[in-house]
Amino acid sequence: MKKTNLLLIILAVYTLSISGKEIHDVQSFNQNWKFTLADSTLHASAAVYNDNSWRTLNLPHDWSIESDFGKNFPASPGGGALPGGIGWYRKSFVVDKADKGKRVFIDFDGVYRNSEVWINGTSVGKRPYGYISFRYDLTPYIKFGENNLIAVKADNSKQPNSRWYSGSGIFRNVWLTILNPTHVDHWGTYITTPEINSDSAIVAIQTAIKNDDNKLRTIRVEQLLYDTRGILVGKSEGSFYVNSGTSHQYLQRIVVKKPVLWNIESPYLYKLVTRTHTLARLTDEYVTMVGIRSFKFDVNKGFILNGKQVKINGVCDHHDLGALGSAVNKRAIERQLEILKEMGCNGIRCSHNPPAPELLDLCDKMGFIVMDEAFDMWLKKKVTFDYSLDFPEWHERDLTDMILRDRNHPSIFIWSIGNEVGEQWGEGKTEDMDLQKANIQLNNKKVIETSDMELGKIGKYALLTKELVDITKSVDPTRPVSAACNGTGENNPLFQSGALDLIGFNYHEGEYAGITKRYPTKPFFVSESISALQTRGYYVMPSDSVSICPDQWDKPYSNPSQQCSAYDNCRAPWGSTHEATWKLVKKYDHIAGQFIWTGFDYLGEPTPYWWPSRSSFFGIIDLAGFPKDVYYMYQSEWTTKDVLYIFPHWNWKDGQKVDVWAYYNNADEVELYLNGQSLGKRSKTGDDLHVMWRVPFHAGTLKAVSRKKGKEVLTKEIKTAGEPVSIRLKADRPVIDADGKDLSFVTVEILDKEGNTSPLADQLVKFTVEGEGNIVGNDNGNQNDHVSLKKPERHLFYGKCLAIVQSTNKSGNIVLKAEIQGLPAQNIIITSK
Ligand code: GAL
Repeated sequence: MKKTNLLLIILAVYTLSISGKEIHDVQSFNQNWKFTLADSTLHASAAVYNDNSWRTLNLPHDWSIESDFGKNFPASPGGGALPGGIGWYRKSFVVDKADKGKRVFIDFDGVYRNSEVWINGTSVGKRPYGYISFRYDLTPYIKFGENNLIAVKADNSKQPNSRWYSGSGIFRNVWLTILNPTHVDHWGTYITTPEINSDSAIVAIQTAIKNDDNKLRTIRVEQLLYDTRGILVGKSEGSFYVNSGTSHQYLQRIVVKKPVLWNIESPYLYKLVTRTHTLARLTDEYVTMVGIRSFKFDVNKGFILNGKQVKINGVCDHHDLGALGSAVNKRAIERQLEILKEMGCNGIRCSHNPPAPELLDLCDKMGFIVMDEAFDMWLKKKVTFDYSLDFPEWHERDLTDMILRDRNHPSIFIWSIGNEVGEQWGEGKTEDMDLQKANIQLNNKKVIETSDMELGKIGKYALLTKELVDITKSVDPTRPVSAACNGTGENNPLFQSGALDLIGFNYHEGEYAGITKRYPTKPFFVSESISALQTRGYYVMPSDSVSICPDQWDKPYSNPSQQCSAYDNCRAPWGSTHEATWKLVKKYDHIAGQFIWTGFDYLGEPTPYWWPSRSSFFGIIDLAGFPKDVYYMYQSEWTTKDVLYIFPHWNWKDGQKVDVWAYYNNADEVELYLNGQSLGKRSKTGDDLHVMWRVPFHAGTLKAVSRKKGKEVLTKEIKTAGEPVSIRLKADRPVIDADGKDLSFVTVEILDKEGNTSPLADQLVKFTVEGEGNIVGNDNGNQNDHVSLKKPERHLFYGKCLAIVQSTNKSGNIVLKAEIQGLPAQNIIITSK
């Protein structure tokens, strides 16, 4: 080919690549899918198939949440009492003719579970693990400029396969990524900060560059680091060869002068832009957010962030978003994190699986300390069809992919390779497992190719622990690896492996004090704690007597109320009250912190009950997002703002003795008044976390005043509510984005003629919406409500319920109307723009 022709071609390609689209072209691939729930095998994977009768929907989508709750679904109440099944998704799409010559990838953030993907009738792969993100290269199958057909099968029919509600289907985002042949590889940057001081920091960048061209290429790689104002603060540049069809790692460094550090109060993020060039042509531009921070875990001092001791005041959460099920919505996650941040919480444990990437982006942005967890089980199963069946074949790939995907998040400080895996008990306790089969498969894998002698020395589960730690460290050696263990003894093979950097205990708070004597070289943190049980708004007195439900973990429990007291006086036998564990974590410097079970109630695992309960009682916040009372205990301890919170409500029987609790801080006493009469002053002494009065109930006004050195700090009043006369609607955000995704969370309460809310109201509320929005979920936090959370009606539960309104793509007003029999209907207007 003549030189001039070649130049013309290069120029043409270059012009196309800069014609409007981002050069690193990542398009949302969520719109307009066809879906059907089909238990029988269909030929739906074929390119030509009549899917006209299927439903049209946008992703992310969770089909399980659309159903009413039912006792007999195979997932059982433990899995949320909702259906599984087999779901098929199909989408037809066109890739521009102009993109011919580029690479076309499809990226799934997660499909629950056992997914298989076909492009134009050809299978491109399967992924059993429902929480893992994965990419397929579609390039060889794409017909540029013509219709292409993606088909996805999600098989969640074999149940139970989870100890909590999983959701079903393509429940996270999907992306179509179109790149030039030379580009930054998938999850292709790895940023570390090996040296940080107040004058400067080194940002080390390892980039994997992929050359899908048919010849060796010289690739120039530019790294540009920008601060939050968009000012370039450092750059690096270099060139190297990459053979055709290979991916090559390239190391560069940028020195940042006077670095602004990432921390939980001000999570500063730099932006790194990686540019690749071949023959002077820009071929890719890839963005990585960068947080510069130093940290360590210390045996005596716990967690040190940027040289300062920080207690991890964290919570564990599952991935469901209440009434939205497991379908990811960024605003719904952000709202959860805002509610937690307001409580003073600074840590999130992604229990017990890789989270949606949006959660980690938000934790980076909002300042949380994250423990990212890979698995709830290894070889030993916990429920019949769980991931233990896939573990032998897939664990190496899944764990590697999780770390590769997540290792640039500054918010992540701990990798966890598992939660309470059966292997911690050694060879015993292997009930109900296909262990033999799994072990044969495992032993066929390279990492377990160990001599019998070695096996004899440390045992195969210790070896497996070592393998998982090695995999993790091979992808990211900068963070400690741990596992959440409830087998705390020295005979736990996970500890025996010596491979874990941190000792993580679930529960067993009696062992915290002496832990450094037992594991003198390993820092300690509480990977999971408490498991207290509460129904928002329900109180069992006397409040100073604690119910353990059941008294022993392996005994059944029943109570006709099917509720748990919201004083901090009800807990699971393996756990503790909130106050008991926090007192210890607060007291001992060597405890790096804790992750409380749980921040939010979640679907499934309705301990201590079973059906008719279908969601958990463990949350500090209920499933709808309404805080339970103990939220304010944490707020009074974990924040510096003034807190005074009294409870319960003030609607009881005349003369009934009611325990009134106050959580407070920044004051030395609280005085309580009933209808103007003082009931006395109380002060916390020792390690007390609340004060209490036992008060014979008389209707009227209960008022608390907190004082410091005699000076009033805060006043709180609760009044006896009379007959309801009106409905109150309150939106968390009255103005939302018209992007078809954003949400407004509207709280419904009813008021008496003086404006007091009715704490016991349980009326049915019916919702309708007009204008540019839809109702996408309703909830009230009641663990025993069986009506689909998608149905636009809900009973108030202890005075509250919630409607979740989503914008369409058009700006305009959204009018949400709530109707309760016997009361005037009420509207609220949400602006979408
Ligand atoms: C833990 C377990 C959690 C949850 C919790 C309930 O042992 O790790 O997943 O089941 O108990 O108390």
